[in-house]
Order: sequence, then C-alpha cells, then structure tokens
Amino acid sequence: METKVIQTDRQQSRILLGEKISNLKNYLPTDKKVVVITDDNLYRHYHAAFDQFPIIRIGQGETNKNMDTMAFIMSQLIEMGVDRSCFVLGIGGGIVTDVAGFAASIFMRGVKFGFVSTSLLSMVDASVGGKNGVNSGGFKNMIGVFNQPEFVVCDYEMLHTLERDEFISGFAEIIKHGAIKDKDYFEYIEKNADKAIAIDPEVIHELVKKSVYIKASVVEADEKEKGERKKLNFGHTFGHAIEKLTGIHHGEAVAIGMMMAVKASQKFNFISHDEAEKIKKVIELYHLPIGIDIKANDLFSAMTKDKKRDGDSISLILLKGIGSAVIHKMSYKELETLTYDLC
Ligand code: GLY
Repeated sequence: METKVIQTDRQQSRILLGEKISNLKNYLPTDKKVVVITDDNLYRHYHAAFDQFPIIRIGQGETNKNMDTMAFIMSQLIEMGVDRSCFVLGIGGGIVTDVAGFAASIFMRGVKFGFVSTSLLSMVDASVGGKNGVNSGGFKNMIGVFNQPEFVVCDYEMLHTLERDEFISGFAEIIKHGAIKDKDYFEYIEKNADKAIAIDPEVIHELVKKSVYIKASVVEADEKEKGERKKLNFGHTFGHAIEKLTGIHHGEAVAIGMMMAVKASQKFNFISHDEAEKIKKVIELYHLPIGIDIKANDLFSAMTKDKKRDGDSISLILLKGIGSAVIHKMSYKELETLTYDLC
C-alpha cells in the first residue's frame, strides 16, 4: 500500500493506493458518527464491510446523479438526527463519490468526508481532485463544489466485481493522462494492455499510481480549473456531448471524444499522422470505441451547453504531440465548422 498526499491551498487529501476496504477503520474518525452513502449494487457485494454504520442507499447509474437524489440524502441525514460533527463515507464508483462528496459539502454547510473508490474510473479520476456534484437538465456536473475528501481508499480487489464495460471504461481516463502529460507513461499503457485488462495487480497498481500522481500535480497547481486543470478535459468536450446524446459509458464517450480531439489536432498540424495512429491503436487495444455515428448539429448543440463554455467561445484541449496538451480557445463558429468536418 502506498499513500499519495494531495495538498491544495485549503486542504489535504490522502489517496491510499492498494489499501483494502477491510482496513477502513484505520482512517475513520472514532469520535464522529459515520454515515455511509453507497448504491444498491455495492451494498449487495460489500455490505458486510460497513454494516456497523447507518447506510443511505441510492439507485445505480447516471440517472440518479441529480438534485432529487440530493434531496433524498438530505432528508435521510436529517431523519438520522446526525449533526455537523458527522463524517460521510461514500463507497462506490464516480457517481456515488460525486454525489456523496456534494451531499457532505452542503449538509449543515459542510461536514468531513472520505471515499472508498470501487471502479477503475473513479480511482484514476472521479474520486481524486475534489470535484463533487450532480447533473441537471440532462447536462453533466452542472451543480457542484470543489472540496477535497479526507481520504480515498483504492482497493484493487474490488475491480473484480465490476461489469466488464464499466471496468474497461476506466482505461479511457488512464490513456488520457498519458496522452496529455507523459509520453513514457503512454508507452507503458500501450505495452501492458493485456495485463491491465486481465487485472494484473502490479500493472493495475502502476496505472492507478501514475494516473493519480499526474492528476495530483495538476490539481495542486490549479484546483479550481482556471487554466492547467482544463487539460484534464481532453476528450471531454466532445465526450460529454456524446454521452448525453447516446447514453454510452463515460469512458467510452471520452475515448471517442479523444479521437475527435486527436483529429482536430491533426487538422491544425499540431500532431503527426503516426502519433494520431498510435493513439487510435492504444484506444483499440483497450477495447474502447474510436468513433460513433452522430449528427454534427446535435453534437454541436450539446457542446455549446457544456459547462466548459466561456461566453461564446470554448476551450478545446488538443495535443501538440503525445504527452503534451494545449488549451485551444475557439469561437462557437469555429467549433461548429470543426464539428461538421469531424463528423
Ligand atoms: N475529471 C477532470 C477533473 O477532475 O478536472
């Protein structure tokens, strides 16, 4: 087990890489009432590990990541009679941790919280870095806060109970980290695809660790996404719109979004044909999709409502070679033309 500490201006967060859910008690406060927030599936598989605490169960899936679920959690917390000294423990994938972190951040103006991250996607991205929130009006993460969890337990054993599509989805964020920040890491991701998909413990540890270190350095530099953190949105401008329009897994949509951003990078002569082909190959090695049949006007319309917009322009993340992302500001008009070209 290894610990990575993320230190922001206001807070410290400990990411416990390879820790076991059975050691959870070592991280929980002994002088506070702990309340668990989890989903029905996680409860079924793992409830024995946290049955001693009061539990709030939410429905599975993106459709439950909304303000109705938030109102339900608030009413449950009030019914339990907990006060602002309580500790909220979110146990689940990205949806549960986003919801639990947001609930803890607004209940009685904020209580402390931690996570057990149970999906690959949440270990390498969603549960790390302090973004908490819910969707609204069909658009992702429209309501939320930046607030760091006290700790995140990443127990790799829990990856074995994930649905295959959900597990594979996590590799999109791993590929993203290599593509935007570290060419050597990208090579490692390429070389170890078979072992990673087979959940080889050493390879999974290396991938989660390296991704968490990359994400930690970005978050420490720019927690509130004023500049550098925008690079973590590589593949997400197109990806969020594709996810909204098709309902496919987040990671699958991000994989397609990354391919679109790579093609855009080629159009601007930022990246060579060979590098673009290499990224495509790695996405395919991880059994992720590289394209989808979608109408350009639907995609463009969904993108202009994304929260990454900035007035009538948008910051698209492109690559100037593998391992080097750039923030490319475009007007809506330019984005519209580009979207029609790419579709
Ligand atoms: N998932 C992107 C970020 O945390 O900034």
